[in-house]
Amino acid sequence: MAQNMLLEMHHVSKTFPGVKALQDIQLEIQHGEIHALIGENGAGKSTLIKILSGVYQPDEGAEIFIDGELQKDITPLGSLKHGIAVIYQDFSLFPNLTVAENIAMVSRIGRKTKIINWKETHNIAKNALAKLELELPLGTTLSELSVAKQQLVAIARAFVNDVKLIVMDEPTSALSRGEVESLFSIIRNLKERGISILFISHKLDELFAISDRFTILRDGKYIGTFGEEELDDDRLISLMVGRRIEYKIFDKRTLNDPLFEVHNLNKAGNFKDISFTLNRGEILGITGLVGAGRSELAQAIFGLSPSDTGEILLDGEPLHIESPEQSVAHGISYIPENRLTEGLVLKKSMTDNICLTVLNKISNNRGLIGKEAQHELVDTWIHDLNIKPNLPNMIASKLSGGNQQRIVLSKWLATEPKILIVDEPTNGIDIGAKADIHQLLRDLSEQGMSIIVISSELPEILAIADRVLVMRRGRIAATLDGKNLTQEEIMKEAL
Ligand SMILES: Nc1ncnc2c1ncn2[C@@H]1O[C@H](COP(=O)(O)OP(=O)(O)OP(=O)(O)O)[C@@H](O)[C@H]1O
Ligand SMILES: [Mg+2]
Repeated sequence: MAQNMLLEMHHVSKTFPGVKALQDIQLEIQHGEIHALIGENGAGKSTLIKILSGVYQPDEGAEIFIDGELQKDITPLGSLKHGIAVIYQDFSLFPNLTVAENIAMVSRIGRKTKIINWKETHNIAKNALAKLELELPLGTTLSELSVAKQQLVAIARAFVNDVKLIVMDEPTSALSRGEVESLFSIIRNLKERGISILFISHKLDELFAISDRFTILRDGKYIGTFGEEELDDDRLISLMVGRRIEYKIFDKRTLNDPLFEVHNLNKAGNFKDISFTLNRGEILGITGLVGAGRSELAQAIFGLSPSDTGEILLDGEPLHIESPEQSVAHGISYIPENRLTEGLVLKKSMTDNICLTVLNKISNNRGLIGKEAQHELVDTWIHDLNIKPNLPNMIASKLSGGNQQRIVLSKWLATEPKILIVDEPTNGIDIGAKADIHQLLRDLSEQGMSIIVISSELPEILAIADRVLVMRRGRIAATLDGKNLTQEEIMKEAL
């Protein structure tokens, strides 16, 4: 037994009906280390941590040691008692309860008494936050907080008990860059105090910024564990994907066929004096630092939070949009950044989810849904977005996070909008599949769809955008031609 190992998992396998999600995996985590668990969508990362937290039982033969002690039949409560806290992709918080109730919740699990003592609840929550040196409004209902704050609540919940290992499953996918920085400083602080972190993410730059060691999974198999100094982007990607990945840089087109025009759009506190044109069949990139107003602008155009003043023209005609329904009726679709919490009906099948937005298209004139049309549609999307496994009847909750993202993408793409606004299109999607999504967006644009891609990933913008709007503090700092554009030129305008 190695010294200083907080956690050792050996020979961990997990079989679901028809799927071998994990085969003979190992994972070792030292005290006070930040350990990254990486692999493509469906590689088995979330399944492995659900075994660690007692949500799933592993197949026969697994050995799991915590502080050198062999664990039999880990239960969710047992794993909490051993100081292991998991923050899931969707946080698993209760939106209608207060911050204090959400934090103190775990202290009540497994207790017989149902009596809720407000004072005790507040004290438990206050103590947990104090250990993190954080302040949050204890009496506020969770749903009123920003995503970043909700995540802090989920972290604080880990501190109700004595925590030794915090597992974070894609904690940054819904955070802005500034929020990621503050999360990282919290994580570094926890490490100083000897707490270990297991971190799952598809963002390589973040992984390199924070991790001491990496464990790599591919297709449910263990590839290896490496120190940060042994890896660089290329090596990591080829270990993870089994091949080299480079974004294809598409030829940039010069189009002059205005479809959508925005004139002097303003929204106090969000953006100011925004004007641009989107051509038919064009991909327009919008980038800029976080807080630059990109998502706010998209939401205003889509009617989620209308602008104060300004004019929008569609095909030369003034457009008055006050709700998302009106946008959709005009052929405008918006795929939000935070789609896992907004876009998916977890208890429904892949098929039901994909067809949800296009029921009228696949129904016959008596309103009955044509099975054949439905199959055809779903098969197309499963193929185009490489959704795995290829089982249209599988319920969405059983899919890996990245495959759930693909379902939400297809659900909106199926509406065949004239104008598509997509916020961080490859959020939560593994590096191998990002290029597929780029190709798909390019294909759609060639079929005449006009697309606005909002992305903070500059390589993505450089790969696909014909033109690029760079936003800075709510204004358009520059409109750049996508031809021969470099990251440096974009950064210069963004800063
Ligand atoms: N409850 C379940 N029933 C059946 N199959 C499941 C279940 N949960 C997960 N799987 C399958 O196990 C495999 C691994 O999924 P997992 O969620 O662990 O992937 P992941 O590495 O977390 O991927 P992502 O990066 O997309 O989140 C996938 O093929 C998934 O469909
Ligand atoms: Mg996952």
